[in-house]
Amino acid sequence: MQYNNYYVLLEVYETPAPSVLTMDGAENKIIHFQKCNGGIIVLNNKPEATSEDRTFFGQPRGLSTLFFTEMWERFSYYGMRAILIYYMYYSVTKGGLGFDQGTAASVMSIYGSMVYLSSVLGGYLSDRVWGSRRTVFIGGVLIMFGHIALSVPAGKMALFVSILLIVLGTGLLKPNVSEMVGGLYNEGDTRRDSGFTIFVFGINVGSLVAPYLVGWLGLSYNFHLGFSLAAIGMFLGLVQYWIGGKKYLSKDSLYPTDPLEPGDMKKLVVRSTIGLVAFVLVLLLMALLGSLNLTNFVLLLTIIALATPVIYFTIFLTSKKVTATERKHVWAYLGLFIAAMIFWAIEEQGSSVLALFAANQTNNVVLGFHIPPAWYQSLNPLFILLYTPFFAMMWNRWGKKQPSSPAKFATGMLFAGASYLIMVIPVALFGSSAKVSPLWLVGSWAVIEIAELLISPIGLSVTTKLAPKAFQSQMMSMWFLADSAGQAVNAQIVKLYTPGNEANYFLGVAIVAIVAGIIMVALVKPIKNLMAGIK
Ligand code: PHE
Ligand code: ALA
Repeated sequence: MQYNNYYVLLEVYETPAPSVLTMDGAENKIIHFQKCNGGIIVLNNKPEATSEDRTFFGQPRGLSTLFFTEMWERFSYYGMRAILIYYMYYSVTKGGLGFDQGTAASVMSIYGSMVYLSSVLGGYLSDRVWGSRRTVFIGGVLIMFGHIALSVPAGKMALFVSILLIVLGTGLLKPNVSEMVGGLYNEGDTRRDSGFTIFVFGINVGSLVAPYLVGWLGLSYNFHLGFSLAAIGMFLGLVQYWIGGKKYLSKDSLYPTDPLEPGDMKKLVVRSTIGLVAFVLVLLLMALLGSLNLTNFVLLLTIIALATPVIYFTIFLTSKKVTATERKHVWAYLGLFIAAMIFWAIEEQGSSVLALFAANQTNNVVLGFHIPPAWYQSLNPLFILLYTPFFAMMWNRWGKKQPSSPAKFATGMLFAGASYLIMVIPVALFGSSAKVSPLWLVGSWAVIEIAELLISPIGLSVTTKLAPKAFQSQMMSMWFLADSAGQAVNAQIVKLYTPGNEANYFLGVAIVAIVAGIIMVALVKPIKNLMAGIK
């Protein structure tokens, strides 16, 4: 969507700002308001006729910019993750860091958890400090340097620096790119849903290609070469974003929607100092007790990642700003959140537990060709791309008669559990030291991706619909927190996936998912009632 370059002064308000400020006007979209001289100036800007702007598959041109930004970002992220676990546990002579496999899997999980936990920070900084356009750019730069850190052979230190940069960078970039996609459409623009579908397609194209290229370079030549390619991918994304953003993204994304005032600033500084000091104190205490090691540090992060959504839900459920109906919606969302968390836990184990299975227990020589284990990571996006048209058709055909969101979630959990039941079979049949056909992994991914299509897109849209008005922007982060919490749990349980214990592990996790799925089936009706009319 393009805007004219001038602003129209609409109204001047005394502080505090009336709530109308956060809403779109009927005809004119309020795109920018500034606090000045104790009052607020609402600046208004009419979008140019957006219906004319159909240059990217009938979508606003800005979608192309955001599509390729996210595609390259996911290329770098999933390319890196496709080889990272092997980099961590391969012996030093093979170019790795020599961790044991359990530790490597646990680090993969807590890393993934932190990457999505930090979306809370990214949402905040964009709303209150930088505006989404700048926040995304800064995030991309941090991500690129994160990959660069691993492209030099600097051992464990480089790994931790890289993790820190990519956790912060992705938190700044990912939620705000998604949010800007939503911002391309005026209220009532029917292209919004298809816009998101195209965007998700971009995510999966990036994730599909990366494991082949980065995996091949990283595993067949040199890990650092692989990580360099991830850095180059993010670089291309940034260039494209810079050029396209100037031309095609609206000016409103340059401003925070709710800028910090001096008073807020003080509160912010005080609060973050308290948080940081508390964190350091806990670390010091652990050091004093002689228990500061990687395992316990990961445990501490697990607790933080699980406490965050608990705090959010407590605030939503107790806040006076939330109406009685909205509170019911939050209760409904809590049910969906827990379901999503269990689903994401299994889905995200694809890059840890199943990556280990691909390397340890799969016969990777097919017709004389050696499959690099990293390549299996592309099965997830591949099945998504294959299934998407089919699901679109199915929902279309069912129209209003299609199952409710909680019913889709419940079915998804059963499929997620089934994908792990499949993995019990080869271990039970051939034992834990046999190398089995790659088709077992293919089958398992084929099943869990059905679950992903029943949960991921539906969760995204239901999250915004169930959000209480007063917490609309925080609510988007909640969807990221479901994945984050799932991976925080993973950081503790993937260590149980040990040689000889594989069948028990797959069976145990599958049973949890299936039992939770059955409970969810029973909860479909009550959750639907709480959602009252929202699909
Ligand atoms: N595969 C998803 C993605 O890259 C993982 C995800 C789910 C991330 C939910 C954030 C929120 O988009
Ligand atoms: N399936 C991963 C995500 O949802 C790639 O996009």
